[in-house]
Amino acid sequence: MAAGTTLGRHLMEEGSWRKDGADDLRALLEPVALAGKILAREVDQAALAGKLGLAGDQNATGDMQKKLDVIGNEIVMDAFSGCSVVAGIASEELEEAVIMSTSDDARYLLCTDPLDGSSNTDVNAPLGTIFGILRRGRTGELSGEEFLQKGSELVCAGYVLYGTSTVLVYTVGAGVHGFTLDKGVGEFVLTHEDIRCPEKGAVYSANVGRHKDWEAGVRKYLDYVTDKDKPSGRPHSLRYTGALVADLHRCLLDGGMYFYPGDPGSPNGKLRLLYECAPLACVAEQAGGAASTGRGRLLDVVPEAIHQRTPIAIGSVENVALFERFVAEE
Ligand code: AHG
Ligand code: MN
Ligand code: MN
Repeated sequence: MAAGTTLGRHLMEEGSWRKDGADDLRALLEPVALAGKILAREVDQAALAGKLGLAGDQNATGDMQKKLDVIGNEIVMDAFSGCSVVAGIASEELEEAVIMSTSDDARYLLCTDPLDGSSNTDVNAPLGTIFGILRRGRTGELSGEEFLQKGSELVCAGYVLYGTSTVLVYTVGAGVHGFTLDKGVGEFVLTHEDIRCPEKGAVYSANVGRHKDWEAGVRKYLDYVTDKDKPSGRPHSLRYTGALVADLHRCLLDGGMYFYPGDPGSPNGKLRLLYECAPLACVAEQAGGAASTGRGRLLDVVPEAIHQRTPIAIGSVENVALFERFVAEE
């Protein structure tokens, strides 16, 4: 595709959906792009507008909400309010799934983490928005259970990264494409066509401050990547931003792996399956990478609850396979 391709044009030309779903694809991704543009502006202006700091409430998984978490959730919901093809939204910041459209055209469900990495809001570090789109098997009254589909059922997934620039990355199962927001003209422009994740990488990304609580296999993996062995490129370098979206973006472009394992206090770790891990796992696999719970393919896990957590290792395929071997050996 030619240089200067906007997201809108790219969606019109998206081959895999052109036959039967081009209109749907545009209807689904335009609100994501709109929310991304508005959130990029809100994040830029937050300190000036008094929008940093805590909102005062807890969300459904017990995190203290930042003001920008609440604002981010409202922005995503507003952006999708006019989108008749989405029946409902499950969000990190909503206790229960919310009905968005009762139209017979409402054939999709949106899963979202509106603001990933929100502990970064007050220190000018990267943030993200994660989205995943599932198909709805029926019409009529929406039930929260309809969201409980394994990640391999996602028809579209991606993220917006608010970093040194704002980047939207998406997949519909035919490659992964990245668009950088030209803030001067308000358009996402194709800058990263067909992102391919290197098969291996020498960067690891984890909150190693918690390593004493990790299971033995994960601790041994950490020993392995921090051991010195020049021929195999060790020690690996540690890069950890506090925002999964930013850490995964680096892994996709440069190779490496992010992991957040369980510990005795939280056997399934911290990250949520439906709206954080599964959409990013879908992107990783589509880019030639991998995502695992440590004990199997993450996209095969059937959620039992909207806010369910899962351990995760995600990034370069060889790194993830090695991590699984360390976990299996213990
Ligand atoms: P969120 O802000 O949506 O709750 O997600 C934060 C996640 C993830 O983005 C990040 O990698 C991880 O939590 C950080 O957790 P620790 O502070 O435990 O490292
Ligand atoms: Mn998150
Ligand atoms: Mn969040």
